[in-house]
Amino acid sequence: MIRHTASVSPALPVPLADVRAAADLLADVARVTPVVGSRVLSDRCGGPVRFKCENLQRGGSFKLRGAYVRIARLTPEERAAGVVAASAGNHAQGVALAASLLDCRATVVMPVGAPLPKVAATEGYGATVRLIGDNVEQALAAAAELAAETGAVLIHPFDHVDVVAGQGSVGLEILEQVPDVRTIVVPTGGGGLLAGVAAAVGERSDVRVVGVQAAGAAAYPSSLAAGHPVALDGVTTMADGIAVGRPGEVPFAVIAELVPDVRTVSEESLSRALLLCLERAKLVVEPAGVAGVAAVLDDPQAFEPPVVAILSGGNVDPLLMLRLLRHGLAASGRFVAFRTRMTDRPGALAALLHELGEADANVLEVEHLRTNPRLHVDEAEVYVQIETRGGKHTDAVLGRLRAAGYPLVFG
Ligand SMILES: Cc1ncc(COP(=O)(O)O)c(C=O)c1O
Repeated sequence: MIRHTASVSPALPVPLADVRAAADLLADVARVTPVVGSRVLSDRCGGPVRFKCENLQRGGSFKLRGAYVRIARLTPEERAAGVVAASAGNHAQGVALAASLLDCRATVVMPVGAPLPKVAATEGYGATVRLIGDNVEQALAAAAELAAETGAVLIHPFDHVDVVAGQGSVGLEILEQVPDVRTIVVPTGGGGLLAGVAAAVGERSDVRVVGVQAAGAAAYPSSLAAGHPVALDGVTTMADGIAVGRPGEVPFAVIAELVPDVRTVSEESLSRALLLCLERAKLVVEPAGVAGVAAVLDDPQAFEPPVVAILSGGNVDPLLMLRLLRHGLAASGRFVAFRTRMTDRPGALAALLHELGEADANVLEVEHLRTNPRLHVDEAEVYVQIETRGGKHTDAVLGRLRAAGYPLVFG
């Protein structure tokens, strides 16, 4: 049997027993989210691939688990003073929901531009929302000030043993729901979820836990190489849930010991994975939530089945979803936009559309332009958006147009 993890050190800040105790606390609070199979990914991996649907958790993500355990373990005096958190998204909803379940006052500081649905959802759980700062870092600084002024306890999104233990309950559920699991793939930002799952897997040396970060926000690979948390200069990813520039100290200590493999995925992979979840599994998942699926899609042979990819959250506002789906269709080669030129004579546009029709491409948009000063007087430029059945079909359509003499310009 392959031993994937280092032996569990008794000095780990979050021992398995603590994850079990956190799971007991959550027994009547967090939903045991379903595990569903993915035929497409199972075919690619050559064995079962399943999704652990934390996008269907109360509050729309796994975040309720850690927040609840952290607040439940406060002393009565601390709880009476209320809690403060800073977040632009899921942590806000997790803390707000957990605090309301525990009859504790919660104030959540969100950046000024936070999406309205997330502000409304956080308020809907009974928290007071304060809009301060341009980004999460500034909101966090304001939340820390507020905590110091009022005596309320700051609930960190990932850097606390109780938060990590709470998130680890997802790992315990996976071990029960898929006892023969070999690989668990975990979307990773500050590392609370990954550390919790790794701690939960504990002595199961036959189970490999893999972390996945967005390439534009991947603080773990360099930090693991350096042997300590290293801050990135900046982060750029559409996956706001995992847009974190520095590993947490507590999760890092666990991950450095137990998780040898933290991978990265591109923005294109994230949107392809999002599309796959929606179209094939009928699951609404946010960009951060599909990081594990994206990693499996990118390199199916690298994951020994049975694989469980955690879908860590599903909070995505519909307008963003529209843009993401278009991006996902483009990244899958099913949505192509190009410009071409033709002689400006009656029937020329119809001839181009005829070629597209013959190639079985569905035209979404056409713009016929004559005013570009770089065109000859007898030339017209046409901008076309088409939908195809995928990469191979796109190649066939574009090949046909090139063979018919149409110059193609993309972007
Ligand atoms: C949907 C989603 N996935 C993954 C993560 C990453 O969690 P962590 O910071 O514990 O690594 C978050 C954090 O907010 C999240 O919202």
